[in-house]
Amino acid sequence: MPKESTMQKTSMTPTHIGIIMDGNGRWAQAQNKSRSHGHQAGVKKAIEIVKHASHRNIRYLTLYAFSNENWSRPETEVSTLMKLLKEFLFSELPTFIEHDVRLTTIGDTAKLPFFAREALNHVINKTQNHQGLTLVLALSYSGRNEITRAIQAICKAHKNPMDIDENCISSYLDTKNMPDPDLIIRTSGEFRTSNFLLWQSAYSEYYVTQTFWPDFTTTEFDTAIEDFISRDRRFGGVA
Ligand code: FPP
Repeated sequence: MPKESTMQKTSMTPTHIGIIMDGNGRWAQAQNKSRSHGHQAGVKKAIEIVKHASHRNIRYLTLYAFSNENWSRPETEVSTLMKLLKEFLFSELPTFIEHDVRLTTIGDTAKLPFFAREALNHVINKTQNHQGLTLVLALSYSGRNEITRAIQAICKAHKNPMDIDENCISSYLDTKNMPDPDLIIRTSGEFRTSNFLLWQSAYSEYYVTQTFWPDFTTTEFDTAIEDFISRDRRFGGVA
């Protein structure tokens, strides 16, 4: 018989869902619209999915909103994304209050422009005691950068190498107080991790859909959860 801890039928709704929201640009291009238009539609979709995840009592939802690599995009696109972030934060604060959503971030957020950091701090403070969904925005985030920053902090703390185990490393990551993602959804049909939650996704289940992010629906979100529930999670153990 497999050990109970190594074989779990995922009969439960995932506690933590991560989403790689890909395909805004291609969605816009298909309609002869600008990439900015695609990102605006992407923000609208993010709002719809946050409300739905909250309604479904998901505990953590991490949205990959801006990667560390995205800084290399044209300045106008980066600036559009930063402005959209600020608008999203101010327009959705009432939603977060109504739905008891707590906002937090992961990533090298010190690199964000001042106006974006100010808006983030404002909404994070206002929602810090909320008890419902924790919405995690991955901003200026990449898994390798996160792990590198964790190693730097461990060295700075003069840790004895023998005391550095997996729990120690986890406790230095941006996600230190969060459960690992159970399910990671990726839109637009690309089968890669793109540096998203590298350490934390060791045993995450992936759900990849061809749908571009602006066309993703709450029904497909539910389908991804149903698919997750049907899987056997063995965490490296035997069936
Ligand atoms: C990837 O699609 C998406 C991004 C780089 C940005 C993701 C951001 C959003 C969906 C907006 C949500 C923002 C907030 C504040 C919640 P892409 O533009 O690379 O698309 P492509 O691969 O088709 O070009």
